[in-house]
Amino acid sequence: MTFSPELEARFARMLRNYPPGRQKGALIPMLLYAQDETGAVTPELVQEVANRLSVKPVEVEEVIGFYSMLRRKPMGKYHVQVCTNISCLLTGGEELFEHACRKLGIGNREVTPDGQFSLEEVECMGACSWAPAVEVNYDFHHKMTPEKFDQLIDSLAKRQ
Ligand code: FES
Repeated sequence: MTFSPELEARFARMLRNYPPGRQKGALIPMLLYAQDETGAVTPELVQEVANRLSVKPVEVEEVIGFYSMLRRKPMGKYHVQVCTNISCLLTGGEELFEHACRKLGIGNREVTPDGQFSLEEVECMGACSWAPAVEVNYDFHHKMTPEKFDQLIDSLAKRQ
């Protein structure tokens, strides 16, 4: 399996940060960065990462099964995550998620037909002081309202 030169360089830098015999610690970031490039964690990717870190594929599978941010199927170009955990729940997170479903016309962990957007209801993202929080790819959007959400989605849709 081949990756872009940029990702290969990133992997090399990452692995230098772990002492010999401890490179298994790079498993999660390696999977996340690879997923960003390939769109999803495929069986081929599992084998590739297992080979690179000298671990068994089943160990990689165990990690994938535990962390919901590692995905088996591709999400949209813009992956919209809406937190509905306690701080966000108390400040309208659930209503915001329902609004997001209506705005995008999709449900939890679904992708719009054009592949531009996907939506996911998530647990705490560590942005509780600025609830309700939304994350699109790696960008946080705080104190979100339905109106601000619509503006955000509309501006992203125009970037296509
Ligand atoms: S509860 Fe939503 S970011 Fe913490």
